[in-house]
Amino acid sequence: MDQPLRLGLAGLGTVGTSVIRLLREHEEALTERAGRPLRLVAVSARDQTKDRGVALDDLEWFSDAEALARSANVDCVVELIGGEDGVARSSAMAALAAGKSLVTANKALLAAHGVELAAAAEANGAMLSFEAAVGGGIPIVKSLREALAGNRVTKLFGILNGTCNYILTRMESEGLTFEECLAEAQALGYAEADPTFDVEGLDTAHKLAVLTALAFGVTIDKESIFVEGISSIAPEDIAAADELGYRIKLLGVAQETETGIEQRVHPTMLPKDSNVARIAGVTNAVAVEGDFVGSVVLSGPGAGGDATASAVVSDIVDCARGFRAPPLGKPVANLRPYQRARMRAHSGGYYLRLTVPDRVGAFAAIARAMADQSISLDSIVQRNRPAGAAPRRRSEELRAVTIITHDTTEQAVRDALRRIEAEGDIVGQPQMIRIEAL
Ligand SMILES: NC(=O)c1ccc[n+]([C@@H]2O[C@H](COP(=O)([O-])OP(=O)(O)OC[C@H]3O[C@@H](n4cnc5c(N)ncnc54)[C@H](OP(=O)(O)O)[C@@H]3O)[C@@H](O)[C@H]2O)c1
Repeated sequence: MDQPLRLGLAGLGTVGTSVIRLLREHEEALTERAGRPLRLVAVSARDQTKDRGVALDDLEWFSDAEALARSANVDCVVELIGGEDGVARSSAMAALAAGKSLVTANKALLAAHGVELAAAAEANGAMLSFEAAVGGGIPIVKSLREALAGNRVTKLFGILNGTCNYILTRMESEGLTFEECLAEAQALGYAEADPTFDVEGLDTAHKLAVLTALAFGVTIDKESIFVEGISSIAPEDIAAADELGYRIKLLGVAQETETGIEQRVHPTMLPKDSNVARIAGVTNAVAVEGDFVGSVVLSGPGAGGDATASAVVSDIVDCARGFRAPPLGKPVANLRPYQRARMRAHSGGYYLRLTVPDRVGAFAAIARAMADQSISLDSIVQRNRPAGAAPRRRSEELRAVTIITHDTTEQAVRDALRRIEAEGDIVGQPQMIRIEAL
């Protein structure tokens, strides 16, 4: 087949302009690989006058992305606008309703409406591909959907947000605070002016919701994800983790349990020598455990215009080849409804850091509260004074207590902490970080 595939690109920002450059720089090789030319014919963005560093002269300009999606001159719509609703959603739906192929990098859209989009693609015989939506340049979507299709996946976990991994890496290597590393990440352009979405774990949750559906063959359910960010991580947690042979990472984890599938995003202590713990800076990584293959780890750039464009163009090539897989790995009718495993039933080890008044019996009361919840302790260490705390009078002196538990449940730990707080045995908020046994 040598009919060109006619592309309409909606969104000419960081990713959109990189996609244009890639299509142009590798035109010949892509034509050979795809078996037909990939021809960009139309684009859409808000501001037609902006200089984007790429020539747009020969392209049809649409100020309305939905009109581009419906254009009879376009075979494949590439949505690179972003956002879970608005024009990204309406143009995606318009493309699929018209039976056109849709390539998108939009994790927010997929996490919120992925099943609806997959159903629309199926109903209209259209292709829907989103390799770039999770893990940027890491080919995790195709790996789950195609290369690992022979396996029953039991667990998936990963570092899915480069901003958080950069901050945690710098906290460890430089001994800096969260706030100092965030400011540095913002100055380097790794973090947004409003970093909430990244540092509070919401971006990771969107990506995890999509990966869970692909890995476990279930419907997408981002609302059920337990989410905790990294803003409470203190230098003393990083130092304690280091001493104990761990490294703290913000992980997204999806795991089969007896009661359902756990989906959780939270700071996690990982053994330092594990593959994922070694991932530093803005790099992302995803580990998949399959019953036949064992453990597979993919790592690489999780964001950035060029790396993301690499994934977008791989989907465009699939489209030109006529390759079509069910978007979520199974026909929508075969997806199981997502069944949530309650976070309180989560089982694992815990790191706790408590600030305790220097009072006879306070330390013993903490140990008793743990024992009464059948929590067995791997270690309990008391230090003279929490890091950064100024010396006080003897009667007001504080102690930092660090506890590592053996496997227990989230419920037991929360109940023990509630009692310790209620009995006045600690000062301030306790710190609790889950330990992931790998
Ligand atoms: N950046 C990354 O590293 C990365 C990585 C993975 C996935 N993604 C995903 O890729 C998508 C694009 O991200 P990005 O970083 O390239 O975003 P971006 O730089 O903010 O670009 C967004 C583009 O969308 C255009 N746009 C906004 N509203 C529009 C509308 N109503 N109609 C038509 N065009 C409109 C903007 O037009 P103007 O330029 O005229 O304002 C801009 O060109 C998002 O879904 C994002 O989550 C990004």
